Amino acid sequence: MSLEKKIKRVTVPSIIKMKERHEPIAMLTAYDALMADLVDRSGIDIILVGDSAGMVMGGFENTLSVSMEDMLFYTKSVRRGVNRALLVADMPFMSYQTGLEDAVRNAGRFLQEAGAEAVKLEGGKPVSDIIYRLTDIGIPVMGHLGLTPQSIHQLGGYGVQGKEDALATRLKEDALLLQDAGVFSLVLEKIPATLAADITQSLHIPTIGIGAGNSCDGQVLVTHDMLGLYDKFKPKFVRRYAELGKNLLDAVAHYIEDVKNKDFPNEHESY
Ligand code: KIV
Repeated sequence: MSLEKKIKRVTVPSIIKMKERHEPIAMLTAYDALMADLVDRSGIDIILVGDSAGMVMGGFENTLSVSMEDMLFYTKSVRRGVNRALLVADMPFMSYQTGLEDAVRNAGRFLQEAGAEAVKLEGGKPVSDIIYRLTDIGIPVMGHLGLTPQSIHQLGGYGVQGKEDALATRLKEDALLLQDAGVFSLVLEKIPATLAADITQSLHIPTIGIGAGNSCDGQVLVTHDMLGLYDKFKPKFVRRYAELGKNLLDAVAHYIEDVKNKDFPNEHESY
């Protein structure tokens, strides 16, 4: 038997149990093995390979340009860094909206080729059949309602969703529908805190909020946002836990100065 302490891995059933135990769920994103390893070792419950990778890593303006091949590459990299957290991969735009067969094939690729343990996809009623089919064949699915960035052109921007009564009612109906279809958890993005609280109370599966107040069963942030690495814009819901972008700029400026002044390398750094 190995002398190393056996790691207790986070699983889909253990995430559902966390809601039953009223234990908050902490989720963050990662797109590469280095970041995944650091975040995993910190004790995070879920690592999401978000399609936000398109903006953070790819430099695209939104998430629509990310392809299946991009997401598989990011997910495979993250897999190599994760030992404990549950690994969820985001299904990119047009990898499931084109029909059941495409959705099954592409979701299957995340589990079979990239080692993901679940997939996440955006939307309510229009994708409920897809979720039903995926969960029926053993592919765990995390839902995503509220601000769904893959519908950015239809939504007309990144504003708060569900402020009007009719939209709030539809969001709640969609949440119940997704639960019936089989999702094991549900991301609620940028909706009023009271609506998120109401949805959270109505469901037996955990909700994971981003800009959805403090009553959700868990919270998610984009790691590069909370570390201050991605500074193109900062939504109100992001709390900065570090200013690594500023540290990096200072460090690089210092290095350039040392090289220009012939101060680096010194005799201890030479052979
Ligand atoms: O793509 C992403 O990172 C996400 C999270 C913000 C939930 O979907």
